[in-house]
Amino acid sequence: MTDKKAQLLVDGKTIDLPMYSGTVGPDVIDVRSLVSEGLFTYDPGFVSTAACESAITYIDGGKGVLLHRGYAIDDLAENSDYLELCHLLLHGELPTKEESEAFRATVRNHTMVHDQVNQFFRGFRRDAHPMAIMCGVVGALSAFYHDSMDITEAQDREIAGFRLIAKMPTIAAMCYKYSIGQPFMYPNNDLGYAENFLHMMFSTPAGDVKFDPAIVRAMDRIFMLHADHEQNASTSTVRLAGSTGANPFACIASGIAALWGPAHGGANEAVLSMLNEIGDVANIDEFVAKAKDKNDPFRLMGFGHRVYKNFDPRAKVMRETCEEVLSVLGLENDPLLKIAKRLEQIALEDEYFIARKLYPNVDFYSGIILKAIGIPESMFTVIFAMSRTIGWFAHWNEMVSENYRIGRPRQLYKGYDKRDYPA
Ligand code: SDX
Repeated sequence: MTDKKAQLLVDGKTIDLPMYSGTVGPDVIDVRSLVSEGLFTYDPGFVSTAACESAITYIDGGKGVLLHRGYAIDDLAENSDYLELCHLLLHGELPTKEESEAFRATVRNHTMVHDQVNQFFRGFRRDAHPMAIMCGVVGALSAFYHDSMDITEAQDREIAGFRLIAKMPTIAAMCYKYSIGQPFMYPNNDLGYAENFLHMMFSTPAGDVKFDPAIVRAMDRIFMLHADHEQNASTSTVRLAGSTGANPFACIASGIAALWGPAHGGANEAVLSMLNEIGDVANIDEFVAKAKDKNDPFRLMGFGHRVYKNFDPRAKVMRETCEEVLSVLGLENDPLLKIAKRLEQIALEDEYFIARKLYPNVDFYSGIILKAIGIPESMFTVIFAMSRTIGWFAHWNEMVSENYRIGRPRQLYKGYDKRDYPA
């Protein structure tokens, strides 16, 4: 709270508006009373709008800072792992040794999906985009678990969270297996979270595929870097869906749908397509010119961010991970990495990008790592969705655990005024 106050002067009338301060970050002006003054605020795209209070993640776009419950993303990427981050995002604190073991054991107990879930895949064409399949199958989970779906009960919310954390890798791998006509692989609970995902993706009943520990670590780090990001488009979608009291699995499916767009989570797939389209370092200038041309819809995918006006701290960790993975796989001279590094260098020197503070974001390097591991481009956003599920769920849970109201934005109406139906 702050004793600061904002004053709005409208048609000669001064309207006093309370202001609030967070732990860190911009103060906010409470504009809720404006509706009683017959006024709305206007903020398409919610550039200057705080839609809620939250204690989960803080981003300082100017400084390129990302904190999860106060811990910096680079500290976490270095010292933690995805399941520990899941506990932190959900409960607000790093787990004790005992809490960590209990958390991991519960996740292991829920990695399989109900056998009837397998039937949902059969309705899709084999060439369906895996995001379409994931959106449908995760939404279908809302048709299960009737015995534990009272969202006013903390233990029902908790088990829904464990089911989502545990089942998303299984469902993601099933989306991939279905698209290539291979049988689904059951989870192997003797493996860690990231290794189990790679097992379900690449092993077959004819034989298991083992991965270099550096690759497994890189996979887990990719999960961590995508876990949560404050009130981004897909998280805001989950909050809005959840504000009606909807089933949590259906709310997560709405987040998957929102994430799919190339301006959001679909960017990692779009980055690879862009790098492949550029094809050679010699062609970069032509594409940079297109990106700067107002009349050309082409944008440099993986660049720019609504909040970061400095380097996305996740992109820095992702770039280091990218170089580690390519080195382990003997792909240091990967042509796509060469194009990416040259593109990054040009963008950091070019006035157009500097003036607009367009830096590489989390999606710029992730696709190169995933491709090097052998994951097809169509699965990149599925992996983003799987990773972000904990963020979506943590925000849904934070909202549903407290007093909340249904989200209901208003509008600036530009249509016809009342007119009579022609006689
Ligand atoms: C994610 O919100 C989150 O936190 C998202 C995310 C998360 O973890 O949840 O971080 C994940 O979605 C990362 C962003 C991935 N998207 C892309 O990489 C797609 C390419 N980027 C752009 O589409 C764009 O930068 C956005 C969508 C990311 C941000 O759009 P904004 O904030 O609405 O910015 P804008 O469109 O108003 O652009 C400002 C200016 C414009 O030029 P002017 O009109 O001022 O002359 O910058 C230009 C834009 O044309 N611009 C770009 C550009 N991004 C912005 N020009 C060329 N290439 C780009 N990539």
